[in-house]
Amino acid sequence: MQIGTPLSPNATRVMLLGSGELGKEVIIALQRLGVEVIAVDRYKNAPGHQVAHRAYTIDMTNDKALRDLIALERPHLIVPEIEALNTSTLADIEAAGIATVIPTVKAVQLTMNREGIRRLAAEALNLPTSPYAFARSEADLQAAIDAGIGYPCFIKPTMSSSGKGQSRITDASEVKTAWDYAATGGRVNQGVVIVEGQIDFDYEITLLTVRAKNASGEIQTYFCEPIGHVQEKGDYVESWQPQAMTTVALVESKRIAKAVTDSLGGLGLFGVELFIKGDYVWFSEVSPRPHDTGMVTMCSQRFSEFDLHARAILGLPVDVSLREAGASAVIYGQHESQNLIFDGVDAALAVPNSDIRLFGKPESFVKRRMGVTLATGKDVTEARERAKLAASLVKPRIA
Ligand SMILES: Nc1ncnc2c1ncn2[C@@H]1O[C@H](COP(=O)(O)OP(=O)(O)OP(=O)(O)O)[C@@H](O)[C@H]1O
Ligand SMILES: [Mg+2]
Repeated sequence: MQIGTPLSPNATRVMLLGSGELGKEVIIALQRLGVEVIAVDRYKNAPGHQVAHRAYTIDMTNDKALRDLIALERPHLIVPEIEALNTSTLADIEAAGIATVIPTVKAVQLTMNREGIRRLAAEALNLPTSPYAFARSEADLQAAIDAGIGYPCFIKPTMSSSGKGQSRITDASEVKTAWDYAATGGRVNQGVVIVEGQIDFDYEITLLTVRAKNASGEIQTYFCEPIGHVQEKGDYVESWQPQAMTTVALVESKRIAKAVTDSLGGLGLFGVELFIKGDYVWFSEVSPRPHDTGMVTMCSQRFSEFDLHARAILGLPVDVSLREAGASAVIYGQHESQNLIFDGVDAALAVPNSDIRLFGKPESFVKRRMGVTLATGKDVTEARERAKLAASLVKPRIA
C-alpha cells in the first residue's frame, strides 16, 4: 500500500460522488492521509466542495457528464455518497479498469433501490425482515395490504432516503394519500412502492460494519459498538453509542450484518439498520457508506466512521474501538434562507464535553439538517442530555 503526493502526477486520487455533510467528513479524513480529493455534487458549494482539492457541479445521473468528468480527473477510487447516480456508467467504468467503485458496483446498484436490497436480504440470504410487498398501482397496494401485510404499515418509494415520500398508515382510508405521496415523493419517480408491515420493536440500531484488510492483507469484518437512534418521520434526530443489547441480540445483529456485507463485498464501512425486540432482530436496510446516525462516532470512537471508511477503502488497517459513551443531536435550519445565521454556538459549546459540526450548506429549509451537536458523558444518558441541550441552544435565524 502506497500513497502519493497530492497535486503531483503520482497522487492517490479519490472522487466523491455526492459531497454532503457525510462526504465532507470522508474528504477531511482522506486529506489527513495525504489523498487528493475531488468532490462532486449536484449543487454548487455543497459541504464537501468546500474542503476538497477540486469541486465540480454536475448531474450525476447523466451518463456523459459522469463519464467525461471521470476521464478528466482519472480517480483511482470512486466513492458514492448518494444514491441518485448513473450506476450503469459506474459499472462500465469499473469493467474497463478505469477506477474502482467503493465498495462495489453491485452494492451501489442493490442499495439504491429498496427492491434490490430487500430481495437480497429476505429472499437470497433468508434473513428476517418485516413482511413486505411491492406495488405498481394503488389497487396493487390495497391488495397487498389486504392479502396479509395489514395495518399499521409503512409505504415508501423504492428509490428514496431520509423518509422522503414515506408514510405510516393505520387504516384503508389513508391508502390513496400514501400511494400519491410515495409515487411523487421518490427521488427518481419509478411508480413502484414497497409496503412493509410494522415491526413492533423495542429499539432500533445502526451496526457500523467495516470490511477492511487485516495485518495479513485479507479482508476481515469488524463491528463498531451498536448505535441507538430516534427517527421522526423517517429522519434521524438523535443517536448514541453504545446502545445496550442482550448478548443474543448482539450476536444475531452481527450475523445479519456480516451476511449482508459479505454479499455486497468490497472494502469500506457500511451502516446496517436493524430493529430489535428482546432477543429478536430484523434487518431493515443498509448504506454501503457512512451513515447519518454514525456521526456520533466523531466523539465516541477512537476513529470516526469517516476515518474508518477512508482507511478501509485505501486498504489500511482499522481500529473500531469505542473511547467513551457519546451522543449526537440534529440542528435543523428552522427557516428558509440562503444566509442563515447561527446564534448561541458559544452557549452550546459551554455545555461540558460538547462539540458541534455546522455543515456549511448554502441553503436552509425548515427541516433541512444544517448541523449536529456531539457530546460525551459518563454514560449514554448523560451524553444524550448534553447533546440535546447543546443543540437546543443553537438558534438559527435569517440574517
Ligand atoms: N417496517 C417498519 N416497522 C417499523 N418501523 C419502521 C418500518 N419501516 C420504517 N420504520 C421506521 O422509519 C424509519 C425510516 O425508515 P427507512 O430507514 O426505511 O427509511 P429511509 O428513508 O431510508 O430513512 P433514512 O434515510 O433516514 O435511513 C426507520 O428507521 C424506522 O424508525
Ligand atoms: Mg433508514
